Amino acid sequence: MTEQSSEVRPLYWDQDVFMVLDQRLLPGKEKYIACTTAEKAINAIKTMAVRGAPAVGLTGAAAVVLGAKNIVASDIETFLKKFDRLCERVKRARPTGYNLEWAVERMRSVLIENADKDIPDIVGELRKTAEAMIEEDVSINRAMGQWGKVVIPPNGRVLTYCNAGALATGGYGTALGVIRAAWEEGKNIKVFACETRPFFQGSRLTVFELTKDKIPVTLITDNTAGFLMQQRKIDVVIVGADRITANGDVANKIGTYTLAVLAKAHNIPFYVAAPRSTIDSLRTRGDQIPIEQRPAKEVITIGNRYIAPQHTDVLYYAFDVTPSRYISGIITEVGIITKPYKRNIREALQK
Ligand code: MRU
Repeated sequence: MTEQSSEVRPLYWDQDVFMVLDQRLLPGKEKYIACTTAEKAINAIKTMAVRGAPAVGLTGAAAVVLGAKNIVASDIETFLKKFDRLCERVKRARPTGYNLEWAVERMRSVLIENADKDIPDIVGELRKTAEAMIEEDVSINRAMGQWGKVVIPPNGRVLTYCNAGALATGGYGTALGVIRAAWEEGKNIKVFACETRPFFQGSRLTVFELTKDKIPVTLITDNTAGFLMQQRKIDVVIVGADRITANGDVANKIGTYTLAVLAKAHNIPFYVAAPRSTIDSLRTRGDQIPIEQRPAKEVITIGNRYIAPQHTDVLYYAFDVTPSRYISGIITEVGIITKPYKRNIREALQK
């Protein structure tokens, strides 16, 4: 594994088994789920044992490998048909994050490149690629950190949302990668992490990660953000992304849009950090992004305890869309993309 400043290891291959850290148990317990089949990996995605768009993509690639290994086929045509069905099943595990689609399509292209080989050799190539993608993701995040760290001023107070850290990726993180890079450079920074209801990715995961790295972090409830901005206690907002459309609109954890509007009202720069594998260039606008709705139980319970009457009618979107006009820049592994987004995103994808 590439050297990481964080001790957290979100996912890795142990021989033929794909191991994912069960993030639902954090910060209390560090326990891994051993995925030996595509079903197990898909289930880890659906139940949010693994979450964060890039980590979901890497787990999707692993699901394709595990499923391909178990395909029973006497000829390549049957194998291809079953492989196609497998890919579609993996892609459906979670709808909003684009990295899942991207990773599955990458596995499909490995299959196409190796279609003249024997089936066990094809599976071997898929397995190699799925593992290489993890290391690649860490390098991309580190590159993003190098480009992005300039947006954090000396003594900067950074607000972040959800968890866009090592846990949400192969390692190092996107938004937290930028924060890590600034910290590693010696900048004296302070992070404010929003709790991020209802799954508490901020309090459970972001605070956990940053504390491990000894990066100063203060937890706030989601509804404190506006008040802090009003008091001029935030210098910059940096968040991750689940899907970015060709015009620069960004889907991210529900509540991100609220923060972006608040940041604009207070003249605070609002940055998104994401690898190019989050950019869905075929969708032209944010309103075309499928938004996941999740089970009401995640909203009305904390652990096993009900915090609302059991049969409460709940509306629970897991993501929202921030229009590009609220975004100061999109930090990627090839540089910071700024307005005009349509042209500059197209150019960044060609680099
Ligand atoms: O529902 P989640 O926890 O998968 O949502 C995660 C986010 O919204 C992250 O901000 C996003 O995936 C970027 S992670 C590098």
